[in-house]
Amino acid sequence: MRIVLLGPPGAGKGTQAVRLVEKYNIPHISTGDIFRKNLKEQTKLGLKAKEYMDKGLLVPDELVVDIVKTRLMEDDCQKGFLLDGFPRTVEQADALEAELNKLGLKLDGVINIEVKDEVLIDRLTGRLVCRKCGATYHSKFNKPKQEGVCDACGGELYTREDDKIETVKNRLDVYKNQTQPLIDYYTKKGMLKTIDGEADTDAVFAKICEALE
Ligand code: AP5
Ligand code: ZN
Repeated sequence: MRIVLLGPPGAGKGTQAVRLVEKYNIPHISTGDIFRKNLKEQTKLGLKAKEYMDKGLLVPDELVVDIVKTRLMEDDCQKGFLLDGFPRTVEQADALEAELNKLGLKLDGVINIEVKDEVLIDRLTGRLVCRKCGATYHSKFNKPKQEGVCDACGGELYTREDDKIETVKNRLDVYKNQTQPLIDYYTKKGMLKTIDGEADTDAVFAKICEALE
């Protein structure tokens, strides 16, 4: 299965990705996670990406595209993959298509998770992430059993730098200007499946699986 997850920040891409990669036994390729991992390790790429991420801006296409191309050539992507947060611009989508054509592969589906702005803002400003394993919680909608502590691994929970309200608003604007055009792009190719992302996580997962069948 080769899947792209599209949707605004906070739509639940990461939450659903964890379940989908388990169900289909495919690697999870999140460009946001790749940048955050690089930043944690203080690599040149991570430090460069931080300049954009902290402002809620997209990292330049040329930095992102090469990373994804290299990743797609790795052995574990032979059995399929789930792209989370890529492509995010028409240029990235074109680059992905060119790369897949070169490899003789096609996407099975592009899932567009739709959620309205007020809900996105609530979700992002309340999100908590585990420093150790990356699991995601929410201060209201998905509370950890013990405050500030990850249920899965006991790690410390923190708020992402880009989940501050001012940055969240920028990210939503950037989404509308730069990423939303991909909805038309994939609709024209007959690949887009839109899912209502405002239901609870189990219901959203069930709808995505149904759309992929
Ligand atoms: P990235 O990490 O990709 O962030 P994003 O797209 O903004 O998405 P998020 O991770 O914020 O949200 P999500 O949809 O995964 O939601 P989640 O499941 O966590 O990108 C970060 C930055 O990196 C970008 O701004 C950019 O700078 C850079 N970048 C990354 N990729 C790039 C690219 N391709 N090109 C250029 N730059 C790039 O859910 C959110 C919250 O809601 C959680 O607390 C969760 O528990 C809760 N929740 C989820 N689902 C539900 C539900 N159904 N009901 C109730 N609560 C829910
Ligand atoms: Zn954890």
